This record gives sequence, structure tokens and C-alpha cells, in this order.
Amino acid sequence: MKVISTEKSQILAARIATALNTTMVDVKFSRFPDGELYLEAGELDDETVIVGSVTESDALVQLLLLIDACEGSQNHLVLPYMGYARQDKRFRDGEPISARAIARLFKNGVEDCITVNIHEPSVLKYFPVPATNISLAGDMGACIGTMGLSNPLILAPDDGALAFAQGVAAAGGWDCDHLEKTRLSGIEVKMAPKKLCAASRPVVIVDDIISTGGTIATAAKMLYQQGATDVYAGCVHGVLIGGAYVHLKASGIRDVFCSDTIERGCSRLSAAVSIAAALRS
Ligand code: R5P
Repeated sequence: MKVISTEKSQILAARIATALNTTMVDVKFSRFPDGELYLEAGELDDETVIVGSVTESDALVQLLLLIDACEGSQNHLVLPYMGYARQDKRFRDGEPISARAIARLFKNGVEDCITVNIHEPSVLKYFPVPATNISLAGDMGACIGTMGLSNPLILAPDDGALAFAQGVAAAGGWDCDHLEKTRLSGIEVKMAPKKLCAASRPVVIVDDIISTGGTIATAAKMLYQQGATDVYAGCVHGVLIGGAYVHLKASGIRDVFCSDTIERGCSRLSAAVSIAAALRS
């Protein structure tokens, strides 16, 4: 078995290869003069783990090219971050179910697929091959455990993220809650933990994705007003578009961290060991 990856997932892929005690396929990436992507894979094995986060269109095309280049091998697909998964239903007439459109692309060339904290697990049904989702909640809990926080409150920004936050909190035996938004007037909202008090303690807000950082920045400001000592933000997928990281720091967040499903400077935990374990099972 060997591991092969798209350009943007090579660090995570190398960690998966180490965890599987195997090697990587060397790949040369380039473009044709008209901008089309090209790649050339080195020597393949008869079984291959293909790793590629769908972060943008080029990453998706590169992944499809890799799958084609690996024809003849028994291929296992790993989608550490599956972009487009948030459009998981048709909210208005005329819209695509984008998650379904992406999942259906993997009809040929792969035997199975692993996703990591996919935004909505029901999307797995759209894959034409057996698809399994793994969660990094325990890994994130272990990461928080190294931060030296005293009696932290693990907080989900909404009830959709509560199950993930509970998994994170279970790793350290910490308190867990989720934020509830109360509308005070036409223009004013209050966000506060539903059951527990955030005063005089550190709070770690955890979510699957941080994109603009808007959700967490707004929450952090309110948590400080309610007396939290320090607010931290952790996510699995650090999409962090535009100035999201700075926006979070400017809102007073002490530290922002994510996993390496999208490789960032603040990638502090790795999905590699959990992915390797799922591939072995
Ligand atoms: C949405 O339901 C997701 O779980 C995240 O809460 C959302 O993507 C965060 O977006 P943003 O960082 O732009 O507020």
C-alpha cells in the first residue's frame, strides 16, 4: 500500500503514510499553458490511499486526475475536508444539492471513502461507494488537554455542533454547553451558554468549520461581557477565508487552532492517526 496526495494535502498525507508505516507516491504537478492542471504520478502499488481535501475547484480537479492516474490500483479515497458539504439540501427552488453533486463525482476509480467531520453526516448517502465519517473530537480534546486550562467550559456555537463539543469535553471530563441566541430587539441579539455560566473561567468554543470567523467572533465578545477569563477557538477545518484569523484575534480570542485537514499555520492537531486507524479497520 502507498499513499498519494493532491498538492494541498501533502503534509497530512505524509503523516498518514507514517502512521500506516508505508511510503508515498512522488507526484509532479504542473499546468498546461492554458491553465489546465496536469500531474504525473510516480511508481504506484497495487493498493493506494488517495488523499485530497476539496478546498476549492482546482483541488477537486487535481483529486479527480489523481484517481484517474491511479487506475489499476485498489484505491481508497480520503476526503479530509469536503467542501460544498454545507449545501446539503435544496433550500430554494433552482438550487443544486452541492454535496450530492460532489459526492457523485467519485463513482469510478475508488472502492470506498473516508471523510472527517463532514458538516452533515447524512450527506454520506450520496456517495456511490461505501463512505464512513470519522470525528476528531477526541483528538481535539487531547489537544486542549495540553493547553493547561483550569476548569474550561467547552462550548458549541449552536446546537448543531453540540455532539462534537460533547465528544471534545468527554476527553478531559470538562463541562459542555452550547450557545443560545436570544433576540433582544430588531437589531440586538444576545448569545449566552444555554445552561452553564461562563463567568470566571476559560471558554473554548469548538466547531467543525471556521470560515469567516463571524460566528465565533460575535460569541467571544459576548462571553467576555459575561465574565469569561479567556476565550479560545478550535475547529476541525480551518477554512479561514479572507482575514478570518485576524478578525478572531481582534475580537479578543486568545488562541485559534485547527487540524491539518486544511493545512494552516495554526494546524495544531493531526487527523493522520485517526484516518490511518479507519483505513486499517
Ligand atoms: C455552520 O453550521 C458551521 O458549522 C460553522 O458554524 C460555520 O461554517 C462557521 O462559519 P463562519 O466562520 O463564517 O461564521
